[in-house]
Amino acid sequence: MSARAPPRPGGTNPGGDNYLGTTPAVMVLLSVLTPVLVVVLCLVIGFMLLGSRETKTTSTSPGKTEGASKADFRPWVDQDLQDDTEITAKEGEDGDWADSNEDEDLLHVPYSPPRYPEETMLARSKDLYTLMNQRRSVRFISPEPFPQEVIDNVIRTAGTAPSGAHTEPWTFVVVSDPETKHKIRRIVEEEEEVNYRQRMGDKWVHDLAKLKTNWIKEYLDVAPYLVLVFKQTYGILPNGKKRTHYYNEISVSISCGLLLAALQNVGLVTVTTTPLNCGPQLRLLLKRPANEKLLILLPVGYPASDATVPDLKRKPLDDIMVHI
Ligand SMILES: Cc1cc2nc3c(=O)[nH]c(=O)nc-3n(C[C@H](O)[C@H](O)[C@H](O)COP(=O)(O)O)c2cc1C
Repeated sequence: MSARAPPRPGGTNPGGDNYLGTTPAVMVLLSVLTPVLVVVLCLVIGFMLLGSRETKTTSTSPGKTEGASKADFRPWVDQDLQDDTEITAKEGEDGDWADSNEDEDLLHVPYSPPRYPEETMLARSKDLYTLMNQRRSVRFISPEPFPQEVIDNVIRTAGTAPSGAHTEPWTFVVVSDPETKHKIRRIVEEEEEVNYRQRMGDKWVHDLAKLKTNWIKEYLDVAPYLVLVFKQTYGILPNGKKRTHYYNEISVSISCGLLLAALQNVGLVTVTTTPLNCGPQLRLLLKRPANEKLLILLPVGYPASDATVPDLKRKPLDDIMVHI
């Protein structure tokens, strides 16, 4: 058995072939073509990378779920997780958007709200704090009815919130119809079960354990009113043009805070809920337009006579205020 000589890079074996068994002419051709091949390969890889980035972008656009097959395609998954607070005119769609300088000539009027003596200020600040410190998220709500006018007024109060460029980007959908409430409950419970079992992850479920919440939401049938608060991601003017709603989520969140305070003020309770992934289905159920996204769902009523709440403590002033 004769030992074969080790290959010499670029050279030939005693037999006349190089170690790959090719002829010198092919080698010359290869050495000329190699740089060209490398450039072509780089271009192909570059185009492939660009293509995959584009696919990624379109797959997270409304109505598409990354990695979801057509069979289990559900437009509400991921869609309402996107933060579209900053939605503005896209390139090429400028004609659809209104100019922002329409209210330039807005009249300014004198403003003189009530002014209180310092003692009264102090007393009022304490009174409001005492009232608001009694606010709790209540998950056991009584079916006992109360006047619709109270709901009208608390929503009027919510509508006094400040908003980016005074766009008032909120819609409060009030539901008292039992059949619609039940449909809402079915949508929420179906999604919440998946949320708890799959989407939220162990840490989130663990953090909620002390609150003893789960996906069963009896209050959605029982509470006399459900208030579903939608943020308008952009406005639509009477002429059909779109209007930018700056900071719409912050604005609507502030209005929700006022709504909670207004409910507390009249002795009603609620629990702030943000039903994950239910937004698009609830929007369709309630026939709200595409520019509206569900932010918060509030069941509203008196507390049930046997209602309990977790014994939570609030942070003291020193922990939440920094005075400089
Ligand atoms: C943005 C937000 C989302 C919340 N989502 C839920 C929810 O989906 N379900 C729920 O039972 N409570 C929810 N809560 C209520 C909190 O659990 C509650 O505010 C917190 O435990 C403090 O209790 P308190 O409201 O009684 O002070 C939410 C509260 C906020 C502010």
